[in-house]
Amino acid sequence: MKTILITGGAGFLGSHLCERLVSDQTSVVCVDNYFTGSKANIRHLLGHSNFEVIRHDVTFPLYIEVDEIFNMACPASPTHYQYDPVQTTKTSVHGAINMLGLAKRVKAKILQASTSEVYGDPEVHPQTEDYWGRVNPIGIRSCYDEGKRCAETLFFDYWRQHQLQIKVARIFNTYGPRMHPNDGRVVSNFIVQALRGEDITIYGDGAQTRSFCYVTDLVEGLIKLMNTSQEVTGPINLGNPTEMTMLELAERVIALSGSQSKLVFKPLPQDDPKQRKPDITVAKASLDWAPKVSLDDGLKETIQYFRHLFDNHLA
Ligand SMILES: NC(=O)c1ccc[n+]([C@@H]2O[C@H](COP(=O)([O-])OP(=O)(O)OC[C@H]3O[C@@H](n4cnc5c(N)ncnc54)[C@H](O)[C@@H]3O)[C@@H](O)[C@H]2O)c1
Repeated sequence: MKTILITGGAGFLGSHLCERLVSDQTSVVCVDNYFTGSKANIRHLLGHSNFEVIRHDVTFPLYIEVDEIFNMACPASPTHYQYDPVQTTKTSVHGAINMLGLAKRVKAKILQASTSEVYGDPEVHPQTEDYWGRVNPIGIRSCYDEGKRCAETLFFDYWRQHQLQIKVARIFNTYGPRMHPNDGRVVSNFIVQALRGEDITIYGDGAQTRSFCYVTDLVEGLIKLMNTSQEVTGPINLGNPTEMTMLELAERVIALSGSQSKLVFKPLPQDDPKQRKPDITVAKASLDWAPKVSLDDGLKETIQYFRHLFDNHLA
């Protein structure tokens, strides 16, 4: 049986990946320091004989025998990654060095959860993998954006210098159950505000666009990428290209949750990208992957999850 290490395995994406891989009859080792993740996200997996958890911070080396590594550890929402920006950069950069070092030692294949944020506030739309990005190196988002860019550099240097088997996924906005209710990401924000009957906050005029991928689609893409042949390194965009404005998203959330909430408008945060949409031509061709879950279906599942949390006083 193959052993797979998932760093950040108690987080939103990591916990879905753990769940999916445990059910695939692989041995899964989840590593997390619980900065933004929680034991609740993985509690249902603890009884599985092929699932284990290690509390560990990836900025420190880890010695363990594994066949594959999904390096997911890093706070992903601006609220969380700006809370301790130095630690965010350390998690991306030292974390990548430590996990690449481990992969080199045990000859494991390693996948990096990179991000569309490496494109910054893009002049190219939709974003293709060969676009180098437009990123502010000294702004409040830089700890995350530049940390992730440096991690990509490290991955490709380990590949060129040490012939490591690497896979780099550039993940675009993903949503679904187990998102943190207070992480300030737009989908969870809108749903939480709608379910609590609070005003829904739109930053700017709401005309900025985003595209949202449902978590099960994303997890499928990550696994397909990990299972590609050695010459496929990425970077590969994974996301849903269906684009919408923040006003349209707010209206869908209000309609699907049956909320009476009203919209309120606030100034745009610094360096907030105006539009973001993946070009997934490469993922379609090399992974035979495209998202399947519609926005309405994904939102319904996510609303149900948050409703359960609030009804049972779990958040
Ligand atoms: N969700 C998205 O839309 C999205 C988009 C682009 C990229 N990503 C990337 O995917 C990965 C997972 O994102 P997510 O949305 O699940 O975020 P998340 O915050 O829910 O998960 C991150 C996990 O990493 C853990 N972690 C943070 N720092 C750590 C450290 N130093 N050592 C060990 N564990 C640590 C956290 O406790 C958490 O469990 C991140 O690397 C993120 O950058 C996510």
